[in-house]
Amino acid sequence: MKTIKERDREVIWHPYTPMKAWPEAIAIVKGEGVWLIDEDGDRYLDAISSWWVSLHGHAHPYIAQKVSEQVGTLEHCIFAGFTHEPAVRLAERLLEILPGEMRKIFYSDNGSTAVEVAIKMSLQYWKNKGIKKKKLVALQNAYHGDTFGAMAVSGRSVFTEAFTDFLFDVVFIPFPGRGNSSESISALEAVLQQGDVAAFIVEPLVQGSAGMCMYDPDVLDTYFRLCQQYNTHIIADEVMTGFGRTGPLFACNQVQAAPDIVCLSKGLTGGTMPLGVTACTQDIFDAFYDEDRSKMLYHGHSFTANPTICAAALASLDLLLEDSCTESRKRIINAHKEFALSVSDHKAIADVRQTGTILAIELNTDTPSYHSGLRDVVYRFFLGKKIIMRPLGNIIYILPPYCISNYELQYIYACIKELLESVVSS
Ligand SMILES: Cc1ncc(COP(=O)(O)O)c(C=O)c1O
Repeated sequence: MKTIKERDREVIWHPYTPMKAWPEAIAIVKGEGVWLIDEDGDRYLDAISSWWVSLHGHAHPYIAQKVSEQVGTLEHCIFAGFTHEPAVRLAERLLEILPGEMRKIFYSDNGSTAVEVAIKMSLQYWKNKGIKKKKLVALQNAYHGDTFGAMAVSGRSVFTEAFTDFLFDVVFIPFPGRGNSSESISALEAVLQQGDVAAFIVEPLVQGSAGMCMYDPDVLDTYFRLCQQYNTHIIADEVMTGFGRTGPLFACNQVQAAPDIVCLSKGLTGGTMPLGVTACTQDIFDAFYDEDRSKMLYHGHSFTANPTICAAALASLDLLLEDSCTESRKRIINAHKEFALSVSDHKAIADVRQTGTILAIELNTDTPSYHSGLRDVVYRFFLGKKIIMRPLGNIIYILPPYCISNYELQYIYACIKELLESVVSS
């Protein structure tokens, strides 16, 4: 009988995978906390929460129970002209905890669609009001997803190269790295002064795919205040940073000024099922509240607000808001800090950075890019240690489910130290 990975090779095309160079996928048959177990019984420690989605660990029994109850009651129903308790309850609960003055929740399917909706909301807001604001501003090297609008507001990179001619123009301002935040802020102000900027979209505090690039809350606060001053929408893409990854529930909780639109996905369901949320203020919603049907938001997906998925999100919120989850995040943050300090002077390291539960280590290399030769070596090194760690070029990072134990964290740190030694001696 063929194994799953053999059958996979015949029929599957995997995401972000050079299929010729990486023909074999590891076939996972079970999840258990931070562990994924393959068809041969090998256990892998999921150090990156399976692409940053798993909050409480895999196959969490409480979420599984709530999903099972819901799927046997109402698995799905159309969400235009109809509604249901899980969607309404989830919106109520999200609005209670979201930063700023969010008043309405628009559901979609994933992080990219949450961003598409945010862009459409902003552009049509200004059109509905008869105000000429059509420009979008983003940070260099941003990543907001893989659909066309989301790609357009993402940095031009190897991810978007094949489609560059088809992406609408966006103004990119420099990333506020160490020493150039004032250049970035001035660039934003210069473009805002032109008076035609519809929205500024930003990954608050951490640019994930760019390589876990981190910046100060003060800079984010200044961006937000400038946008408010020039009457420009702020779209906070909290798809990765949301639900406690940076410490508090949302990265925007670390600044005074508030966004107009917030995008959520990934950890929203605890990582069990796909769901996108675009939350907005009353002012934005009101611009679409009209008898003239041309002013409504023409957007929707077949599975909008799927009740089973909303039930998973509600269960995940229950777990997230328990004191024990806050304590776990604090424990991870402190452990990361201690480890970062212990390796910061290592010869193999160019930079160590941390925001909340996200720890990133930039390795010294002559080829510091997404296609760095180090990437595959490092990926294989960790797989050999039974750790799932997908480096972003020469940058390795830990972004674990909050249920990770101290012992499991220490195992990852020990393997990183071993890698650093082997890099130096090679
Ligand atoms: C900040 C951010 N926005 C949007 C997305 C896209 O989300 P999805 O992969 O669910 O489409 C991602 C995915 O990594 C992300 O990190």
